[in-house]
Amino acid sequence: MSHWSVEERTAIDPGRLAADIRQALSQRPVSIPPKWFYDEKGSQLFEAITELPEYYPTRTEEAILLAHVAELPLVDTLVELGAGYSRKTRLLLEALTRGGRELLFVPLDVSPRPLRDAAERITADFPTVTVRGVVADFDDELAPLPGEPGSRMVAFLGSTIGNLTPVPRAAFLERLHRATDPGDWFLLGADLVKDPDRLVRAYDDSAGVTAAFNKNMLQVLARELDADVDPDDFEHVARYDPDLDRIEMWLRARHDVVVRLHALDLVWRIAQGEEILTETSAKFRLEGLRTELAAAGFAVATSWTDDAGDFSLTLARRT
Ligand SMILES: C[S@@+](CC[C@H](N)C(=O)[O-])C[C@H]1O[C@@H](n2cnc3c(N)ncnc32)[C@H](O)[C@@H]1O
Repeated sequence: MSHWSVEERTAIDPGRLAADIRQALSQRPVSIPPKWFYDEKGSQLFEAITELPEYYPTRTEEAILLAHVAELPLVDTLVELGAGYSRKTRLLLEALTRGGRELLFVPLDVSPRPLRDAAERITADFPTVTVRGVVADFDDELAPLPGEPGSRMVAFLGSTIGNLTPVPRAAFLERLHRATDPGDWFLLGADLVKDPDRLVRAYDDSAGVTAAFNKNMLQVLARELDADVDPDDFEHVARYDPDLDRIEMWLRARHDVVVRLHALDLVWRIAQGEEILTETSAKFRLEGLRTELAAAGFAVATSWTDDAGDFSLTLARRT
């Protein structure tokens, strides 16, 4: 019989946010980790982004999955990092449970609500899947991962890996290597370098959904750290850095702003035009991905892309 549970491995609480904000305010530019976008509203806004005409990554990754899902190894455990609502993952679940196979599905995310929603729906729709959701931060150690060594696949979709800059990305891959066993599989969705104008449009859509998503981080600060901050004092900025091959999302102060963070007993002064970095999203080349994965002990078996070469799905094996 299938069933679901969600374990809170890490408390994603105001104490953790407070530590990140203190650290962020000690640097220039101030840079707040993107995990703080994803309260319930932020997770819903991200889902809305995935439906936007300008936001090609989700539908492209889904099409690649659809084309190649039958070629994936038939593992007994699927772990998904940064799972969110696990919408595309349903294609994997269908493939891995074909012929009535049983599967343990372990979605992991900082945001508990999408995990619970997905766990309930997946349990109802996939009778042979057991869901063991984990509320955790993938910036922490990832072990213990449930499942039998060699019969696990860890999926990391949506190019969420691109939110890590190169040094934290290498550290993440090392943690993944420590948490997995030889023979385990890693399925990685990664966005590819392309026309900068298209990239900027994908992160600055005409309906303003990405702007609302970006500003939602200020609402998280207001609620969790008792901050007096008005999102309308800031504008959403997305630009491409061709030297670093990455999109950057910023919040730019429209005028001089004073933010009182009561929970931290701190006053944060932001000058007109000053920018707060809220997300970087690296764009990859297949050769570079292969090299980064190999350096961390993951041998690439295959990389698939769409015909236009916009997005990639890479299957690698833990050595
Ligand atoms: C870009 S969305 C991708 C969602 C989904 N996997 C997809 O492909 O559409 C990033 C997801 O990772 C989660 N996330 C972000 N930072 C995280 C962290 N440090 N630890 C765990 N989950 C994180 C967010 O809550 C969100 O669900």
